[in-house]
Amino acid sequence: MNILFASDTDRPDEWIPELQARLPEASFRIWPDTGPPEAIDYAVVWKPEPGLLAGLPNLKGILSLGAGVDPMMADDTLPDHVPLVRMVDEGLTEGMTEYVCWQVLAIHRQAAAYRAFQAEARWRQLDQKLARERTVGIMGLGVLGTDAARALAGLRFDMRGWSRREKAIDGVATFHGEAGLDAFLDGLEILVCLLPLTPDTRGILNARLFDRLPRGAWLINAGRGGHLVEADLLAALDDGRLAGATLDVFQPEPLPRDHAFWRHPAITVTPHVASITHARTAAAGLAEEIRRLERGEPPIHPVDRARGY
Ligand code: NAP
Ligand code: GLV
Repeated sequence: MNILFASDTDRPDEWIPELQARLPEASFRIWPDTGPPEAIDYAVVWKPEPGLLAGLPNLKGILSLGAGVDPMMADDTLPDHVPLVRMVDEGLTEGMTEYVCWQVLAIHRQAAAYRAFQAEARWRQLDQKLARERTVGIMGLGVLGTDAARALAGLRFDMRGWSRREKAIDGVATFHGEAGLDAFLDGLEILVCLLPLTPDTRGILNARLFDRLPRGAWLINAGRGGHLVEADLLAALDDGRLAGATLDVFQPEPLPRDHAFWRHPAITVTPHVASITHARTAAAGLAEEIRRLERGEPPIHPVDRARGY
């Protein structure tokens, strides 16, 4: 069995030993050294170069190193007969939940204001709501959104969630579809985006949506940069419709050094670190998906090409 590892961010020296230990019969190639393209059985990828996968004629599976498969779905030449597998991993989920809780708590507990007071050696106490008095909503109740929503509900935030199909999660008021969006947004003080980037969700964080939030709401985007209409965010911050935004994902990445977001006083930038797939937690699941494909079984976490995620 020949596996091509193709990522310019994930380290082959971390992944290959973890995969090799679980798939001792496998031989690995590290992109761009693909060897004979017809010999490759599986491609383990993150942001593969357009055309790379189409050039591997005997692929039996394409496995994403990330939860979001938008980079591979953007490749017009993606082979349409090969199963696509997305990344679901406890470590990735835990990392995202930590990030979302960190950022929600920073907003809720007014971290930026206290940092500014400290910079001026100023002793000032602000009014503080309890979490139960703060309404937080997560767009995207998938693997990541559900776990983050549960954790925030555990901290007693007044939690809401929005998905494409109907969902039930203990401690979370759930809404779905376009018809449920207004009710989901109504009165939300902190909006968290954990959607996948698809044709339906591209540009969803736009002026029309910001207008449906209460004045002074906050945005956290850890989904994808393509969800956000940047000019609409800047306008909403400038006129006070939004109080602030925390952005982890951008278009393009890295965020150019001269981009307005870096220096905007109401924007917190993190460099796509909300959660990262680590071999030490994710390799076992990835190896299991390859074994299933080898046995002719469907993957546990297939990508639905029609839905785009
Ligand atoms: P997932 O399990 O596939 O869940 C996606 C959720 O979004 C589902 O609840 C789905 O609804 C909902 N959704 C999709 N399209 C929708 C639409 N048009 N309207 C309403 N809801 C819609 O994905 P995941 O594993 O949670 O990952 C979510 C995203 O997080 C990834 O795609 C990626 O972009 C991002 N991510 C970012 C980082 C980072 O470090 N910043 C790390 C990992 C992932 P249904 O439940 O009805 O299907
Ligand atoms: C990271 O952004 C991922 O999709 O896993």
